[in-house]
Amino acid sequence: MADTTQRSAASSLRAGPSGGRLDPVPDRLPFARGASVLAVVVLAGALFGYDQGVISGALLGIQKAFAVGAVALEIVTSWVTLGAMFGSLAGGYVADHFGRKRALLAAAGLFIAGAAIEALAPEVPVIVVGRLVAGSGVGVAAVAAPLYAAELAPTAVRGRFVSCYQLAITIGIFGAYLVDEALAGPSGWRAMFGVSAIAGVLLALAVLTALESPRWFAKAGRPDDARRTLVALGAGDDADARLAAIEVSLREEHETPSWSDVFAPRWRTPLIIGLGLAVLQQVTGINAIIYYSDSIFAAAGFTTPAAQTQATTWAIGAVNVLSTFIAIAFIDHLGRRPLLIAGLIGMGLSLTAVGFAFYHSGGASGQGSALGVVTLAALVVFIISFAFSLGPVTWTVINEIYPGEVRGRAVAVATAVNWGAAFLVSGFFLSVVNAIGQASTFWLFAAFCAIGLVWVIVGVPETRGRSLEEIEASWGGASAPQTLR
Ligand code: BGC
Repeated sequence: MADTTQRSAASSLRAGPSGGRLDPVPDRLPFARGASVLAVVVLAGALFGYDQGVISGALLGIQKAFAVGAVALEIVTSWVTLGAMFGSLAGGYVADHFGRKRALLAAAGLFIAGAAIEALAPEVPVIVVGRLVAGSGVGVAAVAAPLYAAELAPTAVRGRFVSCYQLAITIGIFGAYLVDEALAGPSGWRAMFGVSAIAGVLLALAVLTALESPRWFAKAGRPDDARRTLVALGAGDDADARLAAIEVSLREEHETPSWSDVFAPRWRTPLIIGLGLAVLQQVTGINAIIYYSDSIFAAAGFTTPAAQTQATTWAIGAVNVLSTFIAIAFIDHLGRRPLLIAGLIGMGLSLTAVGFAFYHSGGASGQGSALGVVTLAALVVFIISFAFSLGPVTWTVINEIYPGEVRGRAVAVATAVNWGAAFLVSGFFLSVVNAIGQASTFWLFAAFCAIGLVWVIVGVPETRGRSLEEIEASWGGASAPQTLR
């Protein structure tokens, strides 16, 4: 799209109170349709979370069954994020070329195949292959599911729809912690992996009965399918006008987008915002805590494995689920920015407190020690703050700021960068702790919160209450972020 077209579209939107363009998706979806979109999003998120969480319980069994060392275990743990990184890049291409539904079906297929390979693996290298396959499913789903939710959701509740995806991730992680506890035992790890195949089958069934995105139909040159879908989504006489709104924004776009369009100067602002949030979400430490909370609690004085696992399951897993409801309640009322700002403050302060607890502990141990109590309380505050801010808001904003022309690919790039950052943080957390100590490591995460807070205040626009087309039109001028705020 020429810059001038962008600018004039942007200024015409700024002229009217609501932007003057009809939202493509009706304000209210028929109940069954809304439920079907949510079922797809929730199952995809739950599988993502389950694959993240399951490994903490499966590792011990794998270690005993194959008598392998630390390096093999690290590979089994972390290669799922490598698979996810590649899967998310491929997921963007599949979602743009073959549709959001086919991408989600591919993700379900990969989950099922990966789970079967892991559960039946005769040796460790085969488990690693299974982790890579399941990981690519995670990556494809991480792109396609929130994209699907953002495109099918009415503008007024779009934040809520995408936050349901984050809620599902947290339920998946918590569910995996519970399954791990229930199946703990010599060969329980096979069943732990196998369980995700059942969820993969449920996801495939949900996708098969769901509607394709009308925005994708219109983009694929299938206006009749797009109109039919809009009617099924509750559009009445205005289905043609809604389709026209989609087509206007598509006409303003390039005919054949390429990967380089994602990095084109005219989309620099949304690109930086998406990548910035993707990196910020990880460098502030969430997955160091999700993966290594058992050892953090051990270092903080929780002496028995049972006490550590319980602290992880409830203080991290359950609190993460419950606190995501705060985002669901407020993201469309208060907006994305207030949640991000409040969350980053809470995360930064709690990480600083954990750092001080380790700094002043001088090796004190015992579950009742000041170190144990402060660490537990501060990590709960950290998880609450993440769960209502950077967790859901990152995925929401990444899926609403990119123009339709490159949305699939741009979301894929941001998601892959998120996984890359997750891989680095989770892969190097223990080495960093060894090098600079527990206290400084948590202060480092806190420093990233402070930097992120300043950046969010000056550089991340408010997207609440704007249709995807209005957001797209707003990138025309250099002052776009202020316009949206
Ligand atoms: C992040 C994951 C993280 C999860 C924790 C997600 O938004 O992308 O990396 O494990 O939140 O709830």
